[in-house]
Amino acid sequence: MSKKYLIETFGCQMNDLDSEKIAGNLQRHGMVSATDPSEADIIILNTCSVREKAVQKVYARLGEIKRQKNIRQDLVVGVVGCMAQLESDSILKKAPYVNILAGPQKSQVMTELVERTIRTGEVAVDLRMEEDLESVETSYVMRQNRWRASVMISEGCSRRCAFCVVPSTRGRERVRPSEAIIREAEELVAKGYVEIVLLGQTVNSYRERTGNRMSFPQLLERLSRIEGLKRIRFTSPHPADFTDELLEVMISRPQICNQIHMPVQSGSTRILRAMRRGYTRERYLEIIDRIRQAPREVAISTDIIVGFPGETEADFEDTLSLLDAVQFDSAFSFKYSPRPNTAALNLPGEVPEEEKGRRLEKLQERQKLIQYNKNAAYLGRRLEVLVDDRARNRFDLTGRASDNRIVNFDGPESLMGKFIQVEITGFGPNSLKGVWINSAAVKQ
Ligand code: SAH
Ligand code: F3S
Repeated sequence: MSKKYLIETFGCQMNDLDSEKIAGNLQRHGMVSATDPSEADIIILNTCSVREKAVQKVYARLGEIKRQKNIRQDLVVGVVGCMAQLESDSILKKAPYVNILAGPQKSQVMTELVERTIRTGEVAVDLRMEEDLESVETSYVMRQNRWRASVMISEGCSRRCAFCVVPSTRGRERVRPSEAIIREAEELVAKGYVEIVLLGQTVNSYRERTGNRMSFPQLLERLSRIEGLKRIRFTSPHPADFTDELLEVMISRPQICNQIHMPVQSGSTRILRAMRRGYTRERYLEIIDRIRQAPREVAISTDIIVGFPGETEADFEDTLSLLDAVQFDSAFSFKYSPRPNTAALNLPGEVPEEEKGRRLEKLQERQKLIQYNKNAAYLGRRLEVLVDDRARNRFDLTGRASDNRIVNFDGPESLMGKFIQVEITGFGPNSLKGVWINSAAVKQ
């Protein structure tokens, strides 16, 4: 009988895509997906190590899995992804029953690792960092969604932000040939996908050194010419690589969504320097100004860290005033978490945990009010929504507007995967609600 696997994914969109690739590899070799951990022969945790909290979550989950493993000795347990790459020794110490340890680029060899540990009864380990892009060229991807697909355009990161562990888990940036990206996008459209999300740690630093020698704006422009591809998103651009050319391509191609997620991290130039971000507060605001002046309305979202070493009350106030100045459409905010192999570990001025908590709460309150006010302005507007899923709240369905706003409304399930018009009748800080206007009225 075919073996059943279950993959549990922690962390970012890149990890979601890696999990789809792992699933593709396992299915290609005859395994089938389990819906419940109790019926799985293989449980794979695809992990994140960007903050300590994400790591603790995995250890907690491993504790639960241990109970299953006590009952079913032949259960194969894999820990893969960034945390496995970073702290394999500690995983083996805390969870000696783990059978597979593999880094983030190992989807193509997952079946091999499963078979090896079953055959030998020993831990199958593959933590070698890939220098080439072979691991990225995966043709077997078991995608979760039938109309939106993520496409990796680069892997790793060559920046060295003082707080960030990603360069040591995913390695230096390698860019994928534009031809392969374009081919994948065309194949996705042929299969019925209407939206693609381009992924890279600093997605806009994409530049091909050989072949077509495409820059990121050129790649975007080329992809926007694929017939049938209705929406293109990308995440996340780095402010230091943001160019006027990129903005111009975005504005001139309606397929490129009205959305930019551009992490700022802090509103204090002093802290940005300590973080080694490569831009100042003023430079970030200048880019925002340019985006705001564009003839098309573009939603802007961001990531923020509070309590970075040395962050004073005045630095934190600078971050709050940046929120006021930019009026982000949404923001992910985090307490600084010290990570292994990062430069910030050696910085003085640790901010106490309690103070980090206070700052985070204050920031989130301020941002919530901004979002509430921004969303209020959508009342009465009509948005084109790609229907995504059943809603988690009292509405039937949920979808996203081009600017990435979540829109909830009532309607039949047959609308899933379709573009419809929704008139906005209500709002909250994190989503809009509305009524579905006959899909026949949609201009495509
Ligand atoms: N370049 C990536 C960022 C990866 S990490 C991208 O945007 O695609 C995602 C976010 O986690 C970062 O933008 C940052 O805000 C946050 N983060 C990273 N390291 C952190 C740390 N040590 N403590 C707290 N937050 C962190
Ligand atoms: Fe991390 Fe900075 Fe790269 S946040 S992923 S080192 S751009």
